[in-house]
Amino acid sequence: MPRPNPEDIQRIALLGTGTIGSGWAVHYLAQGKSLTIYDPAPDAEERLGAFVEAAWPKMERLGLSPSADRNAFRFAASAAGAVHDAEFVQESAPENLAAKIDLYRQIDDALPPQTVVASSTSGLFISDMQEGRAGANRYVVGHPFNPPHIMPLVEVVGGRQTDAEVIDWTLAFYRAHGKQAIQIRKEVAGHLANRLQVALLREAVHAVAEGIASVQDVDAAVVHALGLRWALIGPHLTIHLAGGPGGMRHHLEHLGPSIEEWWDNLGTPHLNSQVNEKLIEGMEAATAGRPVEDLANERDNLLVELIQTLKKARGES
Ligand SMILES: NC(=O)c1ccc[n+]([C@@H]2O[C@H](COP(=O)([O-])OP(=O)(O)OC[C@H]3O[C@@H](n4cnc5c(N)ncnc54)[C@H](O)[C@@H]3O)[C@@H](O)[C@H]2O)c1
Repeated sequence: MPRPNPEDIQRIALLGTGTIGSGWAVHYLAQGKSLTIYDPAPDAEERLGAFVEAAWPKMERLGLSPSADRNAFRFAASAAGAVHDAEFVQESAPENLAAKIDLYRQIDDALPPQTVVASSTSGLFISDMQEGRAGANRYVVGHPFNPPHIMPLVEVVGGRQTDAEVIDWTLAFYRAHGKQAIQIRKEVAGHLANRLQVALLREAVHAVAEGIASVQDVDAAVVHALGLRWALIGPHLTIHLAGGPGGMRHHLEHLGPSIEEWWDNLGTPHLNSQVNEKLIEGMEAATAGRPVEDLANERDNLLVELIQTLKKARGES
């Protein structure tokens, strides 16, 4: 199936503009795309308008495409109406397999045959969603991170019936539009980055549950050491550098047995009411009554600063 050049895509359809779909909308508008949107919530259009207005100054700081227009979106009355002219579809409807399958059924007849459909799903398999669809081979996962207009990573995962060519096209599409896209080569629960996240969260919860450290101090250990480094290099390169001139080979030979011993010693906590209360109380103490919106806004502003600083330091801007 001949597809348009990924970098030439202009018309994008969004299905769902909640937390994630709104972020996608801001991202694509900042990239100069025009959007057709379907979201059945009665206040969806009003909510999105307010979200775009609030987010736009951050996009101005991150860098807008010359053709960026914050008003270049319109809502359609149906999912079919939103996709019929689209060159790419990003679906961010609620995380419910039956509902997503039903939504895909609604767009079957209207979808242009060459149009790729990417689902933002965090936990569902595209294999289960593409089954029985017209052109099942062009359905793929394009999983972003919250907030999608700021976080660069997108995980691309194909299903049983997805063409390899569609995976390559989708990776190229996201990369041509300012994203760091990676391919996840097997369908696994939670894709990749969230699995890494919950692996760490397991030990973070264990540390609080067992009284090893407070919620605030566990977070400080990540913010002031691990996370600071992880914004620059990943866990594998970290190990390589920790090995000195002998690199990863030396580190694995020297400290591999200790790492395995620590793995065997990691906790397997349960989120029962007692542990949950410890976590909630610890978080209340750590945030000292600051509202979530306030904390999220501060995080987003700092993320923009960090991304700009890193781009500049790497000579990318
Ligand atoms: N929240 C996150 O941190 C996060 C991160 C990455 C991916 N995701 C994924 O993104 C998707 C959306 O999650 P969210 O957090 O934005 O949910 P949300 O509840 O905030 O938003 C869902 C939106 O979909 C709309 N909707 C309901 N039925 C619909 C339909 N039939 N067609 C189109 N839109 C419909 C709702 O009105 C709502 O605006 C999920 O698949 C989720 O797994 C979420």
